[in-house]
Amino acid sequence: MKHLIDPMDLSKQETDEIITLAQDIIAHRERYQGSMSHRKLATLFYEPSTRTRLSFTAAMMELGGNVLGFSDAKNTSVSKGETVQDTVRVVGCFADVIAMRHYIEGAQLYASEVSRVPIINAGDGSHSHPTQTLTDLLTIQRELGHIDGITIGFCGDLRFGRTVHSLIKALSRYKDIKVILIAPQELKLPDYIKRDVCERTGIPYREVETMEEVMPELDVLYMTRVQKERFLDEDEFDRVKDSFVLDSARMALAKEKMAVLHPLPRVNEILTEVDDDPRAAYFRQVENGKFVREALIVKLHEWKNDPEHGMPNHDTPVFDDTLRCANSKCICNNERAPHKFRRGEDDVLRCWYCDSKVK
Ligand code: NCD
Repeated sequence: MKHLIDPMDLSKQETDEIITLAQDIIAHRERYQGSMSHRKLATLFYEPSTRTRLSFTAAMMELGGNVLGFSDAKNTSVSKGETVQDTVRVVGCFADVIAMRHYIEGAQLYASEVSRVPIINAGDGSHSHPTQTLTDLLTIQRELGHIDGITIGFCGDLRFGRTVHSLIKALSRYKDIKVILIAPQELKLPDYIKRDVCERTGIPYREVETMEEVMPELDVLYMTRVQKERFLDEDEFDRVKDSFVLDSARMALAKEKMAVLHPLPRVNEILTEVDDDPRAAYFRQVENGKFVREALIVKLHEWKNDPEHGMPNHDTPVFDDTLRCANSKCICNNERAPHKFRRGEDDVLRCWYCDSKVK
């Protein structure tokens, strides 16, 4: 059965099919109304959300289906100590598909191991956010007319920003992509994305410390919020919180045809004076999120019993009783998920659930 936990759970062809279907839904909305009637989506949100949860809800409603779930796990059996695996076993008795957001990294992957319905990862800690990636790909396609060949600048919190991690992974399968990383020292992209994604797949990337020096080269500027909730040290957050601000003066340095994306919410990293610039695509991006989630729900339903569309063949897990995942925010340090690992091509062992390097 197909789950969407990581962007790479979809083949390039499946990703393209979802993007194409989303565009068809935009052009012919009436054709899809009712296509999910009598079906139910459960939204299990253990972490705050506005766009993601509401766009899933709106998407299912547009398709004629129903939605159940929670947006605050405190009012559920989670407060009695129920595990994510038990929760999805229960919810799978009521719903046809589950969208789950969790502050613990790897929670959805662990839950998917026992689920009888498809699980969609709606964000796990600072790890992954594959449906935002689909939203971003659709937005780039609609704004620029192509994804291949773009130079994209990621700006802000590249360390904790899960949307950045997932989008870079997905872009590694397109042609002639160039990545520019604009971040202060403290918020640099994690090593596993640089090595396992950029270097392994040959995406050229460079790291810079000012926006100005790269603005004229960019086809896409991907702004992000500094993820306050992921910092363990408040002083560190205070030092970096105002690192990069996009304003009209900086926009004046950019190409005439460029798209500014932001997964939102924004705090202060894009001044409102930029909102009326035709290149500011972030509110159009929000709407694309609903269409692409409609397409995803339709496709996961279509693929559910099709062996051609199962999960990709994952590596064989490595078990070693002497090793532990060191990430305190990983599912294996929060629930009874086994400490298991995958061995990368560089021979480094990484946690099966959260990808952090095992020391
Ligand atoms: C993002 C998220 O939750 O990771 N928001 C979203 O889903 N659109 C980005 C963020 O919170 O900064």
